[in-house]
Amino acid sequence: MEVIKFPKGFLWGASTSSHQAEGGNSNDWTEWEKANAHQLARKAGNNWTKQQQEMFPEMFRPENYISGRACDHYNRFEKDFDIAKLLGHNAHRFSIEWSRVEPEEGNFNEKEIEHYRQVILALRKRGLEPFVTLWHWTNPLWLPNWASNKAVDRFIKYVEKIVSSLKNEVKFWITVNESELYSAGSQLTLLWPPAGRNFISYILTIENLIKAHKAAYKIIKSIQPEAQVGVATHNVYLEAYKNRLRNAFVKKIGDWWINFYFLDMIKNHQDFIGLNYYFYYPIKDFRIYQNKNEEISDLGWEIFPEGIYHVLKDLRKYEKPIYITENGLADAKDAKREKFIKNHLYWINRAIQENIDVRGYFYWSLLDNFEWDKGFWPRFGLIEVDYQTMERKIRPSAYFYQKICQTNSLMI
Ligand code: BGC
Repeated sequence: MEVIKFPKGFLWGASTSSHQAEGGNSNDWTEWEKANAHQLARKAGNNWTKQQQEMFPEMFRPENYISGRACDHYNRFEKDFDIAKLLGHNAHRFSIEWSRVEPEEGNFNEKEIEHYRQVILALRKRGLEPFVTLWHWTNPLWLPNWASNKAVDRFIKYVEKIVSSLKNEVKFWITVNESELYSAGSQLTLLWPPAGRNFISYILTIENLIKAHKAAYKIIKSIQPEAQVGVATHNVYLEAYKNRLRNAFVKKIGDWWINFYFLDMIKNHQDFIGLNYYFYYPIKDFRIYQNKNEEISDLGWEIFPEGIYHVLKDLRKYEKPIYITENGLADAKDAKREKFIKNHLYWINRAIQENIDVRGYFYWSLLDNFEWDKGFWPRFGLIEVDYQTMERKIRPSAYFYQKICQTNSLMI
Protein backbone atom coordinates (compact mmCIF):
# COMPACT_ATOMS: atom_id res chain seq x y z
CA MET A 1 0.00 0.00 0.00
CA GLU A 2 1.22 3.43 -0.90
CA VAL A 3 -0.07 6.69 0.60
CA ILE A 4 -0.49 9.50 -1.87
CA LYS A 5 -0.64 12.94 -0.31
CA PHE A 6 -2.48 15.99 -1.61
CA PRO A 7 -1.18 19.55 -1.16
CA LYS A 8 -1.87 21.32 2.10
CA GLY A 9 -5.16 23.26 2.03
CA PHE A 10 -6.60 21.12 -0.78
CA LEU A 11 -10.37 21.58 -1.05
CA TRP A 12 -12.59 18.51 -0.91
CA GLY A 13 -16.29 18.46 -1.57
CA ALA A 14 -19.17 17.81 -3.92
CA SER A 15 -21.30 19.81 -6.36
CA THR A 16 -24.98 20.39 -6.99
CA SER A 17 -26.98 22.78 -9.16
CA SER A 18 -30.16 24.65 -8.30
CA HIS A 19 -32.47 23.17 -10.88
CA GLN A 20 -31.26 19.64 -10.37
CA ALA A 21 -31.53 19.59 -6.57
CA GLU A 22 -33.69 22.38 -5.14
CA GLY A 23 -37.18 21.59 -6.40
CA GLY A 24 -40.07 24.02 -6.80
CA ASN A 25 -38.55 26.01 -9.66
CA SER A 26 -40.30 27.87 -12.43
CA ASN A 27 -37.97 28.59 -15.34
CA ASP A 28 -37.49 27.79 -19.03
CA TRP A 29 -36.51 24.23 -18.18
CA THR A 30 -39.65 23.48 -16.14
CA GLU A 31 -41.77 24.65 -19.08
CA TRP A 32 -39.82 22.49 -21.46
CA GLU A 33 -40.22 19.48 -19.14
CA LYS A 34 -44.02 19.84 -19.17
CA ALA A 35 -44.06 19.99 -22.93
CA ASN A 36 -41.69 17.04 -23.42
CA ALA A 37 -42.16 14.52 -20.58
CA HIS A 38 -44.57 12.31 -22.51
CA GLN A 39 -42.51 12.03 -25.64
CA LEU A 40 -39.33 11.42 -23.64
CA ALA A 41 -41.01 8.55 -21.79
CA ARG A 42 -42.37 7.13 -25.05
CA LYS A 43 -39.01 7.26 -26.78
CA ALA A 44 -36.91 5.91 -23.90
CA GLY A 45 -36.86 2.48 -25.54
CA ASN A 46 -34.95 3.90 -28.52
CA ASN A 47 -32.21 5.47 -26.48
CA TRP A 48 -31.21 2.85 -23.94
CA THR A 49 -30.11 -0.79 -24.02
CA LYS A 50 -32.37 -3.65 -22.88
CA GLN A 51 -30.34 -3.93 -19.71
CA GLN A 52 -30.71 -0.24 -18.90
CA GLN A 53 -34.43 -0.41 -19.61
CA GLU A 54 -34.86 -3.36 -17.25
CA MET A 55 -32.80 -1.79 -14.52
CA PHE A 56 -34.49 1.60 -14.70
CA PRO A 57 -38.15 1.11 -15.70
CA GLU A 58 -38.91 4.61 -14.43
CA MET A 59 -37.50 5.93 -17.72
CA PHE A 60 -40.82 4.94 -19.31
CA ARG A 61 -42.83 7.16 -16.94
CA PRO A 62 -43.48 10.81 -17.80
CA GLU A 63 -43.04 11.83 -14.11
CA ASN A 64 -39.39 10.83 -14.42
CA TYR A 65 -38.89 13.86 -16.67
CA ILE A 66 -40.54 16.48 -14.45
CA SER A 67 -38.12 18.07 -11.98
CA GLY A 68 -40.96 18.94 -9.54
CA ARG A 69 -39.73 18.69 -5.98
CA ALA A 70 -36.35 17.36 -7.18
CA CYS A 71 -34.47 16.53 -3.93
CA ASP A 72 -36.25 19.26 -1.99
CA HIS A 73 -32.79 20.59 -1.26
CA TYR A 74 -34.25 24.11 -1.14
CA ASN A 75 -35.87 23.18 2.20
CA ARG A 76 -33.40 20.58 3.38
CA PHE A 77 -30.08 22.25 2.66
CA GLU A 78 -29.09 22.44 6.36
CA LYS A 79 -29.49 18.71 6.84
CA ASP A 80 -27.75 17.98 3.55
CA PHE A 81 -24.81 20.13 4.61
CA ASP A 82 -24.73 18.32 7.96
CA ILE A 83 -24.10 15.17 5.96
CA ALA A 84 -21.45 16.87 3.78
CA LYS A 85 -19.68 17.95 6.96
CA LEU A 86 -19.95 14.49 8.46
CA LEU A 87 -18.42 13.17 5.25
CA GLY A 88 -15.34 15.30 5.81
CA HIS A 89 -15.96 17.88 3.07
CA ASN A 90 -14.40 21.29 3.50
CA ALA A 91 -15.90 22.93 0.40
CA HIS A 92 -19.12 22.78 -1.60
CA ARG A 93 -20.25 23.96 -5.03
CA PHE A 94 -23.84 24.96 -5.71
CA SER A 95 -25.68 27.38 -7.99
CA ILE A 96 -28.02 30.30 -7.52
CA GLU A 97 -31.32 29.98 -9.38
CA TRP A 98 -31.68 33.17 -11.40
CA SER A 99 -35.43 32.67 -11.93
CA ARG A 100 -35.98 32.73 -8.15
CA VAL A 101 -34.03 35.88 -7.39
CA GLU A 102 -35.27 37.82 -10.43
CA PRO A 103 -38.70 36.38 -11.22
CA GLU A 104 -39.62 39.44 -13.27
CA GLU A 105 -37.14 41.41 -15.27
CA GLY A 106 -35.50 44.07 -13.06
CA ASN A 107 -37.52 43.03 -9.99
CA PHE A 108 -35.30 41.27 -7.53
CA ASN A 109 -36.80 39.16 -4.79
CA GLU A 110 -34.87 40.09 -1.63
CA LYS A 111 -36.28 37.15 0.29
CA GLU A 112 -34.78 34.71 -2.19
CA ILE A 113 -31.43 36.49 -2.08
CA GLU A 114 -31.63 36.14 1.69
CA HIS A 115 -32.32 32.44 1.22
CA TYR A 116 -29.02 32.05 -0.63
CA ARG A 117 -27.24 34.06 2.06
CA GLN A 118 -28.55 31.52 4.56
CA VAL A 119 -27.32 28.68 2.32
CA ILE A 120 -23.85 30.23 2.24
CA LEU A 121 -23.83 30.91 5.98
CA ALA A 122 -24.92 27.33 6.63
CA LEU A 123 -21.88 26.17 4.66
CA ARG A 124 -19.52 28.55 6.44
CA LYS A 125 -20.89 27.51 9.83
CA ARG A 126 -19.92 23.93 9.00
CA GLY A 127 -16.47 24.89 7.74
CA LEU A 128 -17.27 24.40 4.04
CA GLU A 129 -15.90 26.94 1.54
CA PRO A 130 -18.69 27.93 -0.87
CA PHE A 131 -18.08 27.86 -4.64
CA VAL A 132 -21.04 29.75 -6.04
CA THR A 133 -22.12 29.22 -9.65
CA LEU A 134 -24.15 32.12 -10.99
CA TRP A 135 -25.63 30.31 -13.98
CA HIS A 136 -26.06 26.57 -14.36
CA TRP A 137 -28.16 26.43 -17.55
CA THR A 138 -31.62 27.49 -16.35
CA ASN A 139 -33.15 30.85 -17.27
CA PRO A 140 -35.98 33.01 -16.00
CA LEU A 141 -39.02 32.75 -18.26
CA TRP A 142 -38.70 36.39 -19.33
CA LEU A 143 -35.10 36.04 -20.54
CA PRO A 144 -34.58 36.16 -24.31
CA ASN A 145 -32.81 33.18 -25.85
CA TRP A 146 -29.02 33.19 -25.22
CA ALA A 147 -28.53 33.56 -28.98
CA SER A 148 -29.69 37.14 -28.42
CA ASN A 149 -27.35 39.87 -27.20
CA LYS A 150 -30.03 41.01 -24.79
CA ALA A 151 -29.45 37.94 -22.62
CA VAL A 152 -25.91 39.20 -21.96
CA ASP A 153 -27.10 42.60 -20.69
CA ARG A 154 -29.68 41.00 -18.42
CA PHE A 155 -27.13 38.54 -17.06
CA ILE A 156 -24.74 41.34 -16.14
CA LYS A 157 -27.44 43.13 -14.16
CA TYR A 158 -28.28 39.95 -12.33
CA VAL A 159 -24.60 39.31 -11.54
CA GLU A 160 -24.14 42.85 -10.30
CA LYS A 161 -27.06 42.52 -7.92
CA ILE A 162 -26.08 39.13 -6.54
CA VAL A 163 -22.42 39.93 -6.08
CA SER A 164 -23.17 43.28 -4.40
CA SER A 165 -25.55 41.48 -2.04
CA LEU A 166 -23.38 38.47 -1.19
CA LYS A 167 -19.82 39.74 -1.56
CA ASN A 168 -19.08 39.54 2.13
CA GLU A 169 -19.91 35.87 2.25
CA VAL A 170 -18.40 34.49 -0.97
CA LYS A 171 -14.83 34.32 -2.22
CA PHE A 172 -15.13 31.94 -5.21
CA TRP A 173 -17.54 32.78 -8.03
CA ILE A 174 -18.16 30.62 -11.08
CA THR A 175 -19.88 32.72 -13.72
CA VAL A 176 -21.19 30.13 -16.18
CA ASN A 177 -21.30 26.35 -16.25
CA GLU A 178 -20.14 24.46 -19.35
CA SER A 179 -20.99 27.02 -21.98
CA GLU A 180 -19.71 24.65 -24.71
CA LEU A 181 -22.08 21.86 -23.81
CA TYR A 182 -25.04 24.12 -23.15
CA SER A 183 -24.72 25.85 -26.53
CA ALA A 184 -24.75 22.55 -28.36
CA GLY A 185 -27.48 20.98 -26.20
CA SER A 186 -29.80 23.96 -26.47
CA GLN A 187 -29.18 25.07 -30.07
CA LEU A 188 -28.13 21.99 -32.03
CA THR A 189 -29.45 18.75 -30.55
CA LEU A 190 -33.11 19.53 -29.73
CA LEU A 191 -32.46 17.91 -26.35
CA TRP A 192 -32.54 20.99 -24.14
CA PRO A 193 -34.56 24.21 -24.19
CA PRO A 194 -35.00 26.28 -26.26
CA ALA A 195 -34.41 23.19 -28.40
CA GLY A 196 -33.30 24.86 -31.58
CA ARG A 197 -31.42 23.34 -34.46
CA ASN A 198 -29.66 26.26 -35.94
CA PHE A 199 -25.92 26.55 -36.43
CA ILE A 200 -25.92 30.34 -36.35
CA SER A 201 -27.79 30.40 -33.03
CA TYR A 202 -25.28 27.88 -31.73
CA ILE A 203 -22.35 30.14 -32.58
CA LEU A 204 -24.15 33.22 -31.27
CA THR A 205 -24.87 31.44 -27.99
CA ILE A 206 -21.21 30.59 -27.52
CA GLU A 207 -20.14 34.13 -28.38
CA ASN A 208 -22.72 35.60 -26.01
CA LEU A 209 -21.63 33.36 -23.17
CA ILE A 210 -18.05 34.50 -23.77
CA LYS A 211 -19.20 38.13 -23.61
CA ALA A 212 -21.32 37.39 -20.56
CA HIS A 213 -18.41 35.83 -18.72
CA LYS A 214 -15.97 38.62 -19.55
CA ALA A 215 -18.37 41.36 -18.53
CA ALA A 216 -19.29 39.44 -15.36
CA TYR A 217 -15.61 39.04 -14.53
CA LYS A 218 -15.04 42.78 -14.79
CA ILE A 219 -18.08 43.69 -12.76
CA ILE A 220 -17.34 41.17 -10.01
CA LYS A 221 -13.75 42.41 -9.72
CA SER A 222 -14.93 46.02 -9.56
CA ILE A 223 -17.36 45.23 -6.73
CA GLN A 224 -15.11 42.78 -4.93
CA PRO A 225 -11.44 43.03 -6.02
CA GLU A 226 -10.34 40.14 -3.82
CA ALA A 227 -12.89 37.70 -5.34
CA GLN A 228 -11.66 34.67 -7.27
CA VAL A 229 -13.62 34.35 -10.49
CA GLY A 230 -13.65 31.50 -12.97
CA VAL A 231 -15.83 29.32 -15.18
CA ALA A 232 -16.66 25.62 -15.05
CA THR A 233 -15.57 24.17 -18.35
CA HIS A 234 -16.45 20.77 -19.78
CA ASN A 235 -13.24 19.37 -21.26
CA VAL A 236 -12.98 15.92 -22.78
CA TYR A 237 -9.95 13.78 -23.46
CA LEU A 238 -9.60 13.23 -27.19
CA GLU A 239 -7.09 10.56 -28.07
CA ALA A 240 -5.77 9.97 -31.57
CA TYR A 241 -6.06 6.20 -32.07
CA LYS A 242 -2.59 4.71 -32.62
CA ASN A 243 -1.39 8.25 -33.16
CA ARG A 244 -2.19 8.00 -36.86
CA LEU A 245 -1.98 11.24 -38.76
CA ARG A 246 -5.63 11.52 -39.74
CA ASN A 247 -6.73 10.82 -36.16
CA ALA A 248 -4.25 13.36 -34.83
CA PHE A 249 -5.67 15.91 -37.26
CA VAL A 250 -9.24 15.37 -36.02
CA LYS A 251 -8.00 15.55 -32.43
CA LYS A 252 -6.33 18.88 -33.11
CA ILE A 253 -9.51 20.42 -34.49
CA GLY A 254 -11.64 18.86 -31.74
CA ASP A 255 -9.31 20.14 -29.03
CA TRP A 256 -9.31 23.61 -30.52
CA TRP A 257 -13.07 23.88 -30.69
CA ILE A 258 -14.37 21.78 -27.79
CA ASN A 259 -11.62 22.19 -25.21
CA PHE A 260 -9.78 25.44 -25.83
CA TYR A 261 -11.89 27.90 -27.78
CA PHE A 262 -13.86 29.28 -24.83
CA LEU A 263 -10.84 29.28 -22.51
CA ASP A 264 -8.69 31.03 -25.11
CA MET A 265 -11.29 33.73 -25.54
CA ILE A 266 -11.54 34.44 -21.81
CA LYS A 267 -7.92 33.82 -20.85
CA ASN A 268 -7.31 37.33 -19.52
CA HIS A 269 -10.54 37.26 -17.55
CA GLN A 270 -10.18 34.43 -15.08
CA ASP A 271 -8.48 33.76 -11.77
CA PHE A 272 -8.93 30.00 -11.85
CA ILE A 273 -10.24 27.26 -14.10
CA GLY A 274 -13.06 24.99 -12.95
CA LEU A 275 -12.74 21.69 -14.78
CA ASN A 276 -15.66 19.29 -15.23
CA TYR A 277 -14.35 15.97 -16.54
CA TYR A 278 -16.55 13.11 -17.71
CA PHE A 279 -15.63 11.96 -21.20
CA TYR A 280 -12.91 10.14 -23.09
CA TYR A 281 -13.22 9.92 -26.86
CA PRO A 282 -10.66 7.90 -28.79
CA ILE A 283 -10.76 9.05 -32.40
CA LYS A 284 -10.40 6.54 -35.19
CA ASP A 285 -11.00 7.27 -38.86
CA PHE A 286 -13.06 10.40 -38.30
CA ARG A 287 -15.28 8.70 -35.71
CA ILE A 288 -15.38 8.11 -32.01
CA TYR A 289 -14.21 4.61 -31.34
CA GLN A 290 -15.82 2.89 -28.35
CA ASN A 291 -14.04 -0.07 -26.88
CA LYS A 292 -16.91 -2.34 -25.90
CA ASN A 293 -14.88 -4.12 -23.23
CA GLU A 294 -14.25 -1.06 -21.13
CA GLU A 295 -16.02 -0.26 -17.88
CA ILE A 296 -19.07 1.92 -18.27
CA SER A 297 -21.46 3.79 -15.98
CA ASP A 298 -25.24 3.21 -15.80
CA LEU A 299 -25.53 5.77 -18.59
CA GLY A 300 -23.14 3.76 -20.78
CA TRP A 301 -20.37 6.36 -20.49
CA GLU A 302 -16.92 4.83 -20.61
CA ILE A 303 -14.90 5.26 -17.42
CA PHE A 304 -11.37 6.41 -18.24
CA PRO A 305 -9.64 7.99 -15.24
CA GLU A 306 -6.33 8.54 -16.99
CA GLY A 307 -8.11 11.01 -19.26
CA ILE A 308 -8.29 13.58 -16.48
CA TYR A 309 -4.49 13.60 -16.29
CA HIS A 310 -4.18 14.44 -19.98
CA VAL A 311 -6.87 17.10 -19.77
CA LEU A 312 -5.11 18.68 -16.79
CA LYS A 313 -1.79 18.67 -18.62
CA ASP A 314 -3.45 20.46 -21.52
CA LEU A 315 -4.73 23.17 -19.16
CA ARG A 316 -1.24 23.95 -17.90
CA LYS A 317 -0.76 26.50 -20.68
CA TYR A 318 -3.29 28.86 -19.07
CA GLU A 319 -1.12 29.18 -15.95
CA LYS A 320 -4.08 29.35 -13.58
CA PRO A 321 -4.99 27.33 -10.50
CA ILE A 322 -7.41 24.53 -11.34
CA TYR A 323 -10.29 23.16 -9.29
CA ILE A 324 -12.04 20.01 -10.45
CA THR A 325 -15.57 21.37 -10.18
CA GLU A 326 -17.29 18.16 -11.38
CA ASN A 327 -16.34 14.52 -11.82
CA GLY A 328 -18.67 11.63 -11.16
CA LEU A 329 -20.74 8.79 -12.52
CA ALA A 330 -24.24 7.37 -12.55
CA ASP A 331 -24.03 4.17 -10.52
CA ALA A 332 -27.26 3.21 -8.76
CA LYS A 333 -25.76 0.11 -7.13
CA ASP A 334 -22.69 2.00 -5.95
CA ALA A 335 -20.60 -0.84 -7.33
CA LYS A 336 -18.11 1.30 -9.27
CA ARG A 337 -18.04 4.65 -7.49
CA GLU A 338 -15.27 3.87 -5.00
CA LYS A 339 -12.92 2.69 -7.73
CA PHE A 340 -13.97 5.60 -9.94
CA ILE A 341 -13.05 8.18 -7.27
CA LYS A 342 -9.85 6.41 -6.32
CA ASN A 343 -8.57 6.12 -9.88
CA HIS A 344 -9.46 9.65 -10.88
CA LEU A 345 -7.74 10.98 -7.78
CA TYR A 346 -4.69 8.88 -8.53
CA TRP A 347 -4.37 10.55 -11.96
CA ILE A 348 -5.10 14.00 -10.57
CA ASN A 349 -2.32 13.45 -8.09
CA ARG A 350 0.04 12.43 -10.92
CA ALA A 351 -0.72 15.77 -12.56
CA ILE A 352 -0.03 17.58 -9.27
CA GLN A 353 3.33 15.81 -9.00
CA GLU A 354 4.13 17.23 -12.42
CA ASN A 355 3.53 20.69 -11.00
CA ILE A 356 0.06 21.26 -12.32
CA ASP A 357 -1.63 23.53 -9.84
CA VAL A 358 -4.77 21.59 -8.88
CA ARG A 359 -6.29 22.91 -5.66
CA GLY A 360 -9.55 21.08 -5.13
CA TYR A 361 -11.93 18.29 -6.12
CA PHE A 362 -15.73 18.37 -6.13
CA TYR A 363 -17.44 15.06 -6.77
CA TRP A 364 -20.62 15.28 -8.89
CA SER A 365 -22.91 15.07 -7.05
CA LEU A 366 -23.57 15.35 -3.34
CA LEU A 367 -27.06 13.93 -3.90
CA ASP A 368 -28.88 11.91 -6.52
CA ASN A 369 -30.66 14.54 -8.58
CA PHE A 370 -32.54 15.51 -11.72
CA GLU A 371 -30.33 14.68 -14.70
CA TRP A 372 -31.81 17.08 -17.28
CA ASP A 373 -33.38 15.39 -20.32
CA LYS A 374 -32.79 11.98 -18.70
CA GLY A 375 -34.72 12.81 -15.56
CA PHE A 376 -34.30 11.05 -12.25
CA TRP A 377 -33.17 7.55 -13.11
CA PRO A 378 -29.39 8.18 -13.37
CA ARG A 379 -28.01 8.11 -9.82
CA PHE A 380 -24.93 10.27 -9.43
CA GLY A 381 -25.07 10.91 -5.67
CA LEU A 382 -22.71 10.19 -2.84
CA ILE A 383 -26.04 10.24 -1.03
CA GLU A 384 -28.99 8.23 -2.29
CA VAL A 385 -32.33 10.03 -2.39
CA ASP A 386 -35.70 8.30 -2.09
CA TYR A 387 -37.84 10.62 -4.23
CA GLN A 388 -41.08 9.48 -2.56
CA THR A 389 -40.08 10.10 1.05
CA MET A 390 -37.08 12.41 0.40
CA GLU A 391 -35.12 10.19 2.77
CA ARG A 392 -31.33 10.41 2.41
CA LYS A 393 -29.05 7.38 2.65
CA ILE A 394 -25.27 7.69 2.59
CA ARG A 395 -23.73 5.34 0.04
CA PRO A 396 -20.69 3.23 1.07
CA SER A 397 -18.50 5.02 -1.50
CA ALA A 398 -19.20 8.30 0.32
CA TYR A 399 -17.44 6.86 3.38
CA PHE A 400 -14.53 5.83 1.23
CA TYR A 401 -14.31 9.42 -0.05
CA GLN A 402 -14.69 10.66 3.54
CA LYS A 403 -11.39 9.02 4.50
CA ILE A 404 -9.65 10.76 1.63
CA CYS A 405 -11.12 14.13 2.60
CA GLN A 406 -10.25 13.70 6.25
CA THR A 407 -6.69 12.58 5.72
CA ASN A 408 -5.99 14.67 2.62
CA SER A 409 -4.50 11.54 1.17
CA LEU A 410 -5.31 8.39 -0.76
CA MET A 411 -4.18 4.82 -0.12
CA ILE A 412 -3.54 2.79 -3.24
C1 BGC B 1 -23.40 19.15 -15.81
C2 BGC B 1 -24.30 18.61 -14.72
C3 BGC B 1 -24.73 17.20 -15.06
C4 BGC B 1 -23.50 16.34 -15.15
C5 BGC B 1 -23.77 14.86 -15.43
C6 BGC B 1 -22.37 18.16 -16.28
O1 BGC B 1 -22.14 18.31 -17.63
O2 BGC B 1 -22.80 20.35 -15.39
O3 BGC B 1 -25.38 19.48 -14.55
O4 BGC B 1 -25.64 16.68 -14.17
O5 BGC B 1 -22.69 16.82 -16.19
O6 BGC B 1 -24.30 14.69 -16.69
